[in-house]
Amino acid sequence: MKLSSVILSSSAFLAGGASAWGGFGHITVAYVASNFVSNSTASYFQTLLRNDTSDYLANVATWADSIRYTKWGRWTGPLHYIDAKDSPPDSCGIIYERDCKPEGCVVSAIQNYTSRLLDQSLHVVERAQAAKFVIHFVGDIHQPLHTEDVEKGGNGISVFFDEKRFNLHHVWDSSIAEKIVTHKKQGVGRRPFPAAKKWADALAEEIREGQYKANSSDWVKGLELKEASEIALQWAIEGNEHVCTVVLPEGPEAIRDQELGGAYFEAAAPIVELQIAKAGYRLAAWLDLIVSGIEKNETISPPTLPKRPDVVTAEQKPMMLGDL
Ligand code: ADE
Ligand code: ZN
Ligand code: ZN
Repeated sequence: MKLSSVILSSSAFLAGGASAWGGFGHITVAYVASNFVSNSTASYFQTLLRNDTSDYLANVATWADSIRYTKWGRWTGPLHYIDAKDSPPDSCGIIYERDCKPEGCVVSAIQNYTSRLLDQSLHVVERAQAAKFVIHFVGDIHQPLHTEDVEKGGNGISVFFDEKRFNLHHVWDSSIAEKIVTHKKQGVGRRPFPAAKKWADALAEEIREGQYKANSSDWVKGLELKEASEIALQWAIEGNEHVCTVVLPEGPEAIRDQELGGAYFEAAAPIVELQIAKAGYRLAAWLDLIVSGIEKNETISPPTLPKRPDVVTAEQKPMMLGDL
């Protein structure tokens, strides 16, 4: 094996913990969305993604994480999150100008790839890629630690979950969701798709007739393509509020090296379910809007990224000997 491939494969392995919602959460979000999109939205994306099965959204939901750690995909890393420089648990909140990096963030990415999906002058391959990014990033923006700067979204906080050591970010991406479905005697195991579909169908029923019925119309109130960046920012702010209340209710030091599989899990599980349900329901509404927008030839502008004179961007940076 060449040295470069050793480095690539080991970094891909280490990166596993940073994959948003784990694969399982993203696949569940996609299946929730498939329950609610209109028939014309389903056919549009089945054609664009060249998949006429009912798994057309679920099958591409983790693509953005799979390219993030490749040489080509490195630039997409910052697009998976927005690092709110707030101070949980005393104060939570996101300020786009302060927290979105000049190279982009999950809020600008949702606007950018929505704008590219609407742009019929782009090649079909580019529009299919834009669809895969939108499907993934609507999931990411609902993971509370993807809207938090502290310890790189919890990646630097080591904890225990059911006696195994993980970082807090991984617990919120994967462990809590996997334990929820295991409790429901489904298990994820080696076949995440059937388990995710079953969980998604249960969440869809909660949205239609159960615990989320009263609020679900508020989740998608006032959605407008032209407001993509404001809407994505609202989604991010909502998820970020959970950082102060359930993710770090007493700050990072109170949970460092602690066991989170007990009382912490009990408090976190309803929030993970809520955020996955919201993400899926909103994704369906957003994809419906995009397809109606395409039918009406609507377009939206790409995002304006915050520019900060104090930040030296890659183009301005003089090359260092160490870069060679
Ligand atoms: N890297 C830096 N901050 C991050 C976050 N909030 N989520 C995921 N990856 C990150
Ligand atoms: Zn993550
Ligand atoms: Zn991601």
